[in-house]
Amino acid sequence: MNRTWWKEAVIYQIYPRSFMDSDGDGIGDLQGIISRLDYLKYLGIDIIWLSPIYKSPNDDNGYDISDYQDIMDEFGTMEDFDELLKAAHERDIKIVMDLVVNHTSDEHQWFVESRKSKNNAYRDYYIWREGKDAQTPPNNWGSCFGGSAWQYDEMTDMYYLHLFSKKQPDLNWDNPKVRKEVFDMMTWWCDKGIDGFRMDVISMISKTKEMPDGKDGDFSPYCIHGPNVHKYLQEMNEKVLSRYNIMTVGETAGVTTEQAQQYAGEDTHELNMVFQFEHVEGDGKYGKWTDKKIPLVTLKQILSRWQTELYQKAWNSLFWDNHDQPRAVSRFGDDRPMYREVSAKMLATCLHMLQGTPYIYQGEELGMTNYPFESPNDFRDIESINAYREWCSEGRLSHEEFWPCITFKSRDNARTPIQWDDSPQAGFTVGTPWIAVNPNYTEINAKVETANMDSVFHYYKKLIKLRKENPIIVYGKYEALMEDSEELFVYTRTLDSEKLLVVCSFCDHETNFTIPAEFVGTVCLISNVQNAYDKAEMTLKPYEAFVLYYK
Ligand code: GLC
Repeated sequence: MNRTWWKEAVIYQIYPRSFMDSDGDGIGDLQGIISRLDYLKYLGIDIIWLSPIYKSPNDDNGYDISDYQDIMDEFGTMEDFDELLKAAHERDIKIVMDLVVNHTSDEHQWFVESRKSKNNAYRDYYIWREGKDAQTPPNNWGSCFGGSAWQYDEMTDMYYLHLFSKKQPDLNWDNPKVRKEVFDMMTWWCDKGIDGFRMDVISMISKTKEMPDGKDGDFSPYCIHGPNVHKYLQEMNEKVLSRYNIMTVGETAGVTTEQAQQYAGEDTHELNMVFQFEHVEGDGKYGKWTDKKIPLVTLKQILSRWQTELYQKAWNSLFWDNHDQPRAVSRFGDDRPMYREVSAKMLATCLHMLQGTPYIYQGEELGMTNYPFESPNDFRDIESINAYREWCSEGRLSHEEFWPCITFKSRDNARTPIQWDDSPQAGFTVGTPWIAVNPNYTEINAKVETANMDSVFHYYKKLIKLRKENPIIVYGKYEALMEDSEELFVYTRTLDSEKLLVVCSFCDHETNFTIPAEFVGTVCLISNVQNAYDKAEMTLKPYEAFVLYYK
């Protein structure tokens, strides 16, 4: 297997709006990020993935871009960006940009032109269709954020496709001019010296020519992993990616391990790795909404399958959460005060010892938790607002039925400001934050976490350091043990004569465990509680995690 820097790296995702506000407008910004680079350096991460910072009317917090070569007003200027890139590089930290090119904002100049007339030079930059009749869209596809995926536009009496909000019209990738514009724009960023791209919903860029009704309005068979997606990515690779020493990760909802081998194969000349979502999807009760944890056996089956089926063929990315998911410790661990820290550390151990590049979502390293929402007015996210309206206000479910589900999974859980210290607004801003700070900031914050050597923060720091010192953590072969256990996630990693044993308890009570003979009395690389590993028979504490190693 090829050894490369992006396999050995640890990536930290910044959602700039909620990271650090430098000017008191309540919205995080680029100068705020610059002011916290030393914190990230201290944590030990190698790469920052910046969620979108481009010009945007913020219908979907920057995932609706109106100018790819300019910076969002609230975040600063291009000079601020250049300063950030330089300051990061001075600290040996790379910067990966979010590339959102399945769609633009409806305020992007291309779309402003496109809608003007049927023969406008930009008409074919987007996907326009006649309605079935004056009141009926071309087909029954629903958008990811609710309602039809088609928006009627009076100006030319036609509909345009938007798989997300109606302010996010889908680009027409079959048009070579669109591809050229995108590749030129990417080249412009690469020439600036950025270090890679995280590609937003990149598996959706190619749509089928025919656009029939989907089952229950589902567009997936026609828009996800569409007919030309690999062709277009290979073209992108040839024209842009292969010319720079950068890394790429594709957001590929619904991807299978076979498809991932194509998207991110060692020699398929597309992307370096993909985000798969099987472990964070499929637990839904009402659409994606649920208040239940995924059963551990199912979680293990999914992650183990990705570990074994990509081995030596393609590369995994590892994550528990991001800006679209609830907080890891609340979702997969246990955020009750007595278990929050220990379970956050256990989850970190479990993930960072798997094969793949680990992603830390901002605040995860502090063990930040879900937000205690009290009313739908607390939501800022377009997906949560629309979902509440569709499921509750329109009468499909009662508030009581839906509330636990939407609050458990809302994307806003991950979007509350980073808790820097115990001063007002958690030190995130001196103004009024755009979204409320989690009231638990007085106990959970970076100041406390960095000062306490036993904290979740220092545990992450140690995991990152171990990765640098032990190639087995990056390159070792994975093997699952105790697959049927509903309480323990246990696996080994093997590299030549070296071997690791990783044991993680996912339960809030003690459990008996037998250390496999070959590991009894070996070196413990890390553990999240005090325990002894020198005898085979042992009792694991609630949410205990440890890693044993021999050579
Ligand atoms: C991706 C982003 C998400 C955004 C959507 C539309 O899934 O991660 O935040 O809403 O694409 O761009």
